Amino acid sequence: MTQEEQLMAYAEKVLGQDASGHNMDHIRRVVATTKTLLARTPVADATIAVAAATLHDTYDDKLVTDVAAAKAQTVAAMTHAGLTAAQQSAVIAIIDHMSFKASLAGKQPLSLEGQLVQDADRLDAIGAIGIARAMMYGGAHGSRLYDPALAPRHQLDASSYRQGESTIINHFHEKLLHLAAQMNTPAARKLAAHRQQVMQDFLEEFAAEWRGEK
Ligand code: ADP
Ligand code: NI
Repeated sequence: MTQEEQLMAYAEKVLGQDASGHNMDHIRRVVATTKTLLARTPVADATIAVAAATLHDTYDDKLVTDVAAAKAQTVAAMTHAGLTAAQQSAVIAIIDHMSFKASLAGKQPLSLEGQLVQDADRLDAIGAIGIARAMMYGGAHGSRLYDPALAPRHQLDASSYRQGESTIINHFHEKLLHLAAQMNTPAARKLAAHRQQVMQDFLEEFAAEWRGEK
C-alpha cells in the first residue's frame, strides 16, 4: 500500500462504521478536489494537503467520542505510514484550525495546504453535490422542503431549526450561498463560481416550478 492508501485505510477504519458510508464518500470527494486544487497551485505540498484532506474528520467531536484518544491514534497512523514529524505537525495544525468552529474561535492562519483543504471541504457543501447533501440532511432530520413565506432569510439562527421554522431551501440562503465568497485560493474561487451558478439556477427553477410556472 502507498502512504496515501494507508492513510485512507485508517480513515475508513475510523469513519467507515457509519452504515451509510456517507462520511467516507465525503472524504474521497474532498481528497479528489484537493488534488484538483493542488494541480492548479504548484507551490503547495501535495503530501501534506492530501494527508490532511484524508484525515480531516478522524478526530471530529461530531464523529468520535474521545477526541484526545482519536487524535493520538491519527498521529500514530501517520507515524505508521511513514510521515515525518514535521509533516505530521503540519497536518495536525491544518485539521485543528480548518473547521468553521476553529475559524470563529481564533485567527490562527492556515498554511497554504490548509487553505486548499478548507476550500475543498467547503466546495463539497456547494454545487450539485451541495444540493444533494442538503436534501439528504434535511430528509434525515425531518425538515420541511420549502416555505415561500420564509424564504429567503439570510440569518443563521440555530433556534429556527429547532422550532422547525427553517427549511432545506432556506439553508441555501442561510449558509450555502455564502461559501463561494469565503474561498481562500484562486483555483477554488473558480470552481466555487461555477458551483454557485448551479445552485442559483436550481433555486430559480425550484421557485418557478413551486409556483406552477414551468
Ligand atoms: P460539515 O461540518 O461538514 O459542514 P454538517 O453536518 O454541518 O457538516 O453538514 C453536512 C451537510 O449537511 C452539508 O452539506 C450541509 O450543507 C448540510 N446541512 C447542514 N445543516 C443543514 C440544514 N439545516 N438543512 C439542510 N442541509 C444542512
Ligand atoms: Ni469535511
